[in-house]
Amino acid sequence: MASRRAINPSRRVSDSGSIPLVSSLNQKSRNSPLLAVGLVVLGAFFLIGYSLGGSGGFAGNKEAINIVQGVSCTSDVLQAIPILKKAYNDGMRKVLYVGPDSCAVVSKLLKEEDTEAWGVEPYDLEDADNSCKSLVRRGFVRVSDIKFPLPYRPNSFSLVVVSDSLDYLSPKYLNKTLPDLSRVSTDGLVIFAGYPGHQRVKVSELAKFGRPAKLRSSSWWRRYFLQNGLEENETVVKKYEQASSKSSYKPRCQNFHVNS
Ligand SMILES: *[C@@H]1O[C@H](CO)[C@@H](O)[C@H](O)[C@H]1NC(C)=O
Ligand SMILES: *[C@@H]1O[C@H](CO)[C@@H](O)[C@H](O)[C@H]1NC(C)=O
Repeated sequence: MASRRAINPSRRVSDSGSIPLVSSLNQKSRNSPLLAVGLVVLGAFFLIGYSLGGSGGFAGNKEAINIVQGVSCTSDVLQAIPILKKAYNDGMRKVLYVGPDSCAVVSKLLKEEDTEAWGVEPYDLEDADNSCKSLVRRGFVRVSDIKFPLPYRPNSFSLVVVSDSLDYLSPKYLNKTLPDLSRVSTDGLVIFAGYPGHQRVKVSELAKFGRPAKLRSSSWWRRYFLQNGLEENETVVKKYEQASSKSSYKPRCQNFHVNS
């Protein structure tokens, strides 16, 4: 503290010395431009503060929506169910959903005709309501760390849909988890992942996920699939895109269809 105070005066001298234009003016004419500059800066601060305040309020609203819809791609997944049905037909008969809000997704899937569904919640189930608790009790939904092999036999499901969870895995764990998701499915793997720059999880949620999301670009994912011998299913991609454009589906997350 004391040494800082001792340093300050000399710094002030060198600071003003670094603005030769101002120090070359005489005292009187120096004051009014400084005052004018000061007023402009003050005005700018008010403007910036105003616009920041505005966008801050907007971010607050978006956050409120996120809490309602789940801080994730869940709303995309819920909307995508009819589209997935069109793209995969038969592939939707036995679905495993891996991701947050698994109770909501599994109960929606179970309402579909000819679809059986199970869920893996990669994080703790907080605030589970009674219907969610019932899904857990009946074995439809379970909490399981996806860094470890899933507790299912090979080819247990026709389709595996994974949302958000992969965003939190490092390539080292992705190398284990993605092949494991393939292992338990026969007809394909659907991946919902966040777009880079769309950090949707509040800081207070980070503790739950363990680490911040690493949102990767679609070219990163495509390169990753290629390196790991995973192929995108072009037929399904086309059908999915057609069905998406027919309905009013506006995805917030990116979406990949990988062969099992
Ligand atoms: C993941 O697997 C790929 C392909 O086998 C390999 O090139 C890469 O080094 C692995 N990454 C890690 C972090 O283990
Ligand atoms: C693409 O997915 C469809 C629907 O699940 C499946 O019938 C087809 O065999 C897949 N294509 C490849 C090359 O695996």
